[in-house]
Amino acid sequence: MCGTVGLFTGCAAAAFCPLSQLNRKAAGPAGSVAELPPYRTAFANWDRRASVRSSPRRILPEDIGDPFPVDLVPVAKHELVKGLRPEFFRRLLTQQLYRYLHFTAKLEFMVVNYVVLGISQGSIQVPIPDQMRFDALKIYCDEAYHGYFSVDLMRQVQERTGIAPAVSDEPHFLRRLAALKARHKPDQAGFIDLLFTIVSETLITASLTEISKSRDATEAVVDVLNDHALDEGRHHAYFASYLTYLWASLGRAERTFAGRLFPELIDIFLEPDLPSIGSELCGYGLGADEVARVLAEVFSSQVQGDYKRATASKLLGYLQEIEAFAEPGARDEAQSRGLLPV
Ligand SMILES: [Fe+2]
Ligand SMILES: [Fe+2]
Repeated sequence: MCGTVGLFTGCAAAAFCPLSQLNRKAAGPAGSVAELPPYRTAFANWDRRASVRSSPRRILPEDIGDPFPVDLVPVAKHELVKGLRPEFFRRLLTQQLYRYLHFTAKLEFMVVNYVVLGISQGSIQVPIPDQMRFDALKIYCDEAYHGYFSVDLMRQVQERTGIAPAVSDEPHFLRRLAALKARHKPDQAGFIDLLFTIVSETLITASLTEISKSRDATEAVVDVLNDHALDEGRHHAYFASYLTYLWASLGRAERTFAGRLFPELIDIFLEPDLPSIGSELCGYGLGADEVARVLAEVFSSQVQGDYKRATASKLLGYLQEIEAFAEPGARDEAQSRGLLPV
């Protein structure tokens, strides 16, 4: 495996890899790089505004209070879960915080920063302005800090509460992403990671903004979420712009590949980890039938579809603008996943 997940220059296995062909300025039907709107950096005040440069370490008090906003734990609203013993209910909120922080750390360390490193070092050969390449270094620092403060907070919570995180080494989204890559040729893995990073960086802002608006949790947790949301606002702008540069660089086959894949990648990022939530609820004394009922009612396909469409609305707009859904099979794929109306 190469240093930047298969995306480095001169990879012998890159026969198909679209990124290996991107040291040229492809002029697809949508235009060329030269015709794109100029890149406007969102990082002009990064030195003063980035969390890693300006926010203090967030420290939990001895009594951490409510570990995670109840209104952001979907199963917590179900009558069977509301009826759990108070210590189990509190444990449920704590595990949700762990699940969220673990997801964040793994996303930043295991996917996003590999890709951002590839952009900054030029091993991902999409032609971009020099300022954009430099800004990728700032994102790299931001994401490392987000991963770090997530791990730091998990450790503090465990220390204060004595509750061990019940998280698997490989979160649900990483398992699904790995399974998706396994269905493709090995030399496509790097391109898939790049597309997934664009998805996660343009969706994460929506979920973080929602979370950070809540004040119904201990202050240090809300502060960490706010720190992250502010940084991710800049990352969102960056990757929305990066998508246009990438798209202009892709040939027909690569555009079709990407257009068909985006809906599944959105799904992978947003799908709740039902197996993990289900086994946790079993551990609190709910029977298998009761757990199945909670999951079916809380995460109905209608609810999940509405959530995915709402959270992905900005990205879906960007994909419409570049006409990604005009690629053969792409619209069907988005419709079948409930992301576009039939
Ligand atoms: Fe982040
Ligand atoms: Fe980010």
